Amino acid sequence: MDSWEKLEAACKSCVKCELHTTRTNVVFGVGSRDAEVLFIGEGPGEKEDLKGEPFVGRAGELLNDMLKIIGLSRETNIYIANIVKCRPPNNRDPHNTEREACFDWLREQIKLINPKIIVCLGRIAACEIIDSNFKITADHGKWFEIDGIKYTALFHPAALLRDPTKRPDTFIDLKELERTIKEVCERTL
Ligand code: URA
Repeated sequence: MDSWEKLEAACKSCVKCELHTTRTNVVFGVGSRDAEVLFIGEGPGEKEDLKGEPFVGRAGELLNDMLKIIGLSRETNIYIANIVKCRPPNNRDPHNTEREACFDWLREQIKLINPKIIVCLGRIAACEIIDSNFKITADHGKWFEIDGIKYTALFHPAALLRDPTKRPDTFIDLKELERTIKEVCERTL
């Protein structure tokens, strides 16, 4: 797909999996389309489905706070997307068939953004993007490089809400992300 307009329109009328039957809105993505840093979550929850924007519930508020610590925001210098663009009912994990059906949209977004750094939020995004054996408890904050793009994963903000004892590790991971952005990005910080 050669333009954002075409991609967004096609994605918003997607009927490739069953999730289209229960969605209110397709949650395509938000942020700067020429960002050097792309964040990828799992999938929309109830608030996101209603608003059509990723990470606008409680986990989203925490994500905004986390980003602010290192000078990032969806309004200025990053893009945020999800593995699946439609809400799985009752916030269950997206099924493999749904992830596979949806992956082309994200692949096209990554091509258009051409990010230098991809940050996965939580296990599901990290397993889909970095390595199917990714263990978020052991591997968060580690860095990987594939085809010139640097990848890392943080605990999902919803996991940080459930278990605040994970927050100090995430602070360290965020500071390392900030350091890496300064090293490899030209326009972000
Ligand atoms: N959790 C996610 O992974 N993505 C969202 O957009 C909201 C909550």
